Amino acid sequence: MKALHALPALPALAALLAAGAAWASPELAQQKTCMACHAVDRKIVGPSYKDVAAKYAGQKDAVDKMVEKIIKGGAGVWGAVPMPANPRVSPAEARQLAVWILSVK
Ligand code: HEC
Repeated sequence: MKALHALPALPALAALLAAGAAWASPELAQQKTCMACHAVDRKIVGPSYKDVAAKYAGQKDAVDKMVEKIIKGGAGVWGAVPMPANPRVSPAEARQLAVWILSVK
């Protein structure tokens, strides 16, 4: 007649949750040097994130389009100046940035 000592694996769960909140998006944009060419509310080299959010408001596939553009770069939407590719940005990071940019008001 022994009692069972079944301890739940709480430390593992806590570590998992902490890993999910690595970067808030504005800090991520700073760290990936997006802010060298973009600002939230004025044009620098690239369009302001407010203008980007306004242009794509209500478009269902906007996040996917932005993810591709952020990683591969491109030109012709806002003018002749191209955005260079950003190979140091992972798809997950690009998605986080895209969701944030499209939510800027
Ligand atoms: C060297 C300057 C430069 C850097 C660095 C840069 N961008 Fe851009 N970005 C631009 C330019 C220029 C455009 C306009 C391109 C066009 O007209 O198609 C642009 C456009 C965009 C757009 C709108 C795309 C569209 O098709 O409407 C998004 C979103 C964006 N950038 C996000 C980012 C993010 C996120 C980063 C950082 C990972 C970044 N940019 C880094 C210059 C830059």
